[in-house]
Amino acid sequence: MYARTPDDWHEINRARWDERVPIHAAADFYGLDAFLAGRDALRDFELAEVGDVTGRTLLHLQCHIGLDTLSWARHGAARVVGLDFSEPAVGTARGLARSLELPPERAAFVAADVYDAAQAVPDSAYDIVYTGLGALNWLPDITRWAEVAASVVAPGGFLYLAEFHPLTDCLDDETGSKVTYDYFSREAWVDDSPGTYADRDAVTVHNRSVEWQHPVGEVVSALAAAGLRIEFLHEHDASLFPRYQVLERGEDGYHRFPPDRPRIPMMYSVKASRPVRG
Ligand SMILES: C[S@@+](CC[C@H](N)C(=O)[O-])C[C@H]1O[C@@H](n2cnc3c(N)ncnc32)[C@H](O)[C@@H]1O
Repeated sequence: MYARTPDDWHEINRARWDERVPIHAAADFYGLDAFLAGRDALRDFELAEVGDVTGRTLLHLQCHIGLDTLSWARHGAARVVGLDFSEPAVGTARGLARSLELPPERAAFVAADVYDAAQAVPDSAYDIVYTGLGALNWLPDITRWAEVAASVVAPGGFLYLAEFHPLTDCLDDETGSKVTYDYFSREAWVDDSPGTYADRDAVTVHNRSVEWQHPVGEVVSALAAAGLRIEFLHEHDASLFPRYQVLERGEDGYHRFPPDRPRIPMMYSVKASRPVRG
């Protein structure tokens, strides 16, 4: 339900995430064994839109247990750094890096709040700052996020964001066709659902979450105001999970509306670059 932001939202969210890390590390959803055996955690559209990362440095904000971060290293990034406020998540990511024999110079993980990223990460700037797919909804202030994220993009580098489209959270869960929640709400969304998207039946204790809705226009405008140049904003007609009961899973693994149903965007991606000078 919509509610006033609780003063302890940060501790509430961190407790929820900390508890879910070992559950995720054991879940088929994340498939750690397959990942260690070589499975790519990145989505095809991300690989296409980010392009060749060979020899580049990459910072992943809100990296969770590091699968996406480490996948960029496997794709040839010279150095990847993952940041997440969950110590257990960062610990799991470090363990995976060790298993892949990626030394800290190639893959480092930092436990810090995303708003403190500029002070917390080991380098002053990165060629690519990557984030998303369930990240921005955990942050109350998108202007501040954009300022921090833009500050660690190297001149000539870019930020790449792939995120679930906020419109999807405004429609009814069954059909995805009825406007049920306010797209422009500024209030926090406070929920107490047990389990996790990666294991619905997991037994959990820290179930409260505090999240916020960020309209696409505000995200893009915040990045532009932070000094980045918007290269593209792509909207995707697919989701990574069955967001509505009517969605059908395609052979490519994405979930879409049936062909006879009008579509809405369910994910979006943004590339925003920092000019070489200025
Ligand atoms: C859904 S996960 C990121 C998804 C990622 N794409 C994945 O599936 O691995 C969101 C992550 O954001 C982190 N997080 C939430 N709020 C944060 C904050 N204020 N600062 C840093 N990390 C935060 C959580 O610990 C969690 O690991």
